[in-house]
Amino acid sequence: MINDLGGGSRYEVFRAWDRQLFCQVAVKVMRPNRVHEDRVMDGFEREIGIASRLQHPNLVRLLRWNAAPPRPYMVLEYVSAQTVAAHLENIGEVSIPEVCLLGIRMLSALQYMHSNHVLHLDVKPDNVTMGDPPRLLDFSLAQAFSGPVRLRHTMGTAAYMPPEQFMHGVVGPESDLFGLTRRSSTRSSWKTPNRFTTRWICHRCSRGS
Ligand SMILES: Nc1ncnc2c1ncn2[C@@H]1O[C@H](COP(=O)(O)OP(=O)(O)O)[C@@H](O)[C@H]1O
Ligand SMILES: [Mg+2]
Repeated sequence: MINDLGGGSRYEVFRAWDRQLFCQVAVKVMRPNRVHEDRVMDGFEREIGIASRLQHPNLVRLLRWNAAPPRPYMVLEYVSAQTVAAHLENIGEVSIPEVCLLGIRMLSALQYMHSNHVLHLDVKPDNVTMGDPPRLLDFSLAQAFSGPVRLRHTMGTAAYMPPEQFMHGVVGPESDLFGLTRRSSTRSSWKTPNRFTTRWICHRCSRGS
């Protein structure tokens, strides 16, 4: 382990040196107190199943994993660029050229996911990195779909999720576009011109132009 990169209620994420791959990696390790919860283990297996079949320059790559207790983990390529959330916190506003690059690359990643019948369902600044190429992280809420998906419970991040992602909604590819264009009500927000730039890109893409 080299250092801590973050994490949430289910996982902690570390930067580490991988002796097999001989490179730096990010290791996403399940928190020990969550290992015995069926729902968390099912989520781990779903995340692995989805991440292992996706390959796109703007999606973080899963390298290998181990589902065995006591600490199931997945090894991901290490992305050295900070997340958009960290950039907003540490540096400030994302410039218009940067937001254009982010918008185009994230739409490319989402177009790829959707055409492979996968919804991300948690597109937000903490799950998108800066850099070139920027990467979309975190498939922990991702779902395979073959038509409209009715959620059995609320999932996602309140500040970025579309209304249908609240209780019992029907979600689809457009739900991910909402996450991309959503302006957070917190200080770490896309500033107004950037929000419109991103919305404009989405509008053009949704019309197929
Ligand atoms: N491959 C990676 N490279 C660098 N940092 C990462 C990587 N994956 C995750 N992180 C960091 O860890 C945080 C949590 O990882 P994430 O996959 O989003 O887990 P969670 O499901 O807990 O939100 C991210 O917001 C990011 O800061
Ligand atoms: Mg996350």
